[in-house]
Amino acid sequence: MALFKSKKEAGDDQPRTVPCHIAVIMDGNGRWAKKRGLPRTAGHAAGAETFRRVATYCRDIGVKYLTVYAFSTENWKRPKEEVDAIMGLLEKYLLEAIEKMERDHIRLKFFGDTSVLSPVLRERIAETDAISARMDGFQANVCLNYGGRDEIVRAAARWAELAAAGETEPLTEERFSGLLWSGGIPDPELLIRPGGELRLSNFLLWQSAYTELIFTDTLWPDFDAREIDRAIEEFNRRDRRFGGL
Ligand code: FPP
Repeated sequence: MALFKSKKEAGDDQPRTVPCHIAVIMDGNGRWAKKRGLPRTAGHAAGAETFRRVATYCRDIGVKYLTVYAFSTENWKRPKEEVDAIMGLLEKYLLEAIEKMERDHIRLKFFGDTSVLSPVLRERIAETDAISARMDGFQANVCLNYGGRDEIVRAAARWAELAAAGETEPLTEERFSGLLWSGGIPDPELLIRPGGELRLSNFLLWQSAYTELIFTDTLWPDFDAREIDRAIEEFNRRDRRFGGL
């Protein structure tokens, strides 16, 4: 039996399938702020609140993994003031998360090279990692100083190291996946990009090979549970063939 049915096959009364893993490119914070005559940083603050709401909703409806693009390897090109504001928001968010994540049943994991981040941020990431390690359940993956190409190059370099150290097993897609930041986590079935742009922007390039893509004009700070529901409904209408018939 197919895991996902087309709407035609499934009929309208069929219960919807909730994806195990949803990925989101949190885009549109700057435009949201500009429309209101606010500094761009106010858009990122609103975006951080939206992340909190969306993560809670995803947890409640049975999503297992939510992966969000918070800061790319290319975002360092932004003015220092904006970069500092985003890092400051992350510091603040993580401080709150450290207090609440066990109560809220939200595990946090970070994808990306966090070694170059500020000592405060690294310390908070280490604390959230330690708390996450002793919990089960819903996991939010925050991509921070993350780039899809960078992730693939690092995995290839890691494989070269293993081979040089005597690894004799052949390299397979599965083994390569295990060397990515997302190693051990299933690929996202659904990727949502709010904000009106129609591209992946170096996000989860390997993992999104067969991911269903949904683009919406809603700016990320305006994103809510209804938008998630709409995306899941659209996902349920898709006929996923994975290259087959
Ligand atoms: C893209 O919108 C957004 C970012 C580069 C930053 C996202 C960061 C956050 C939401 C804050 C912290 C995150 C967490 C997980 C607590 P944009 O600035 O490119 O918007 P624009 O396209 O309208 O200019």
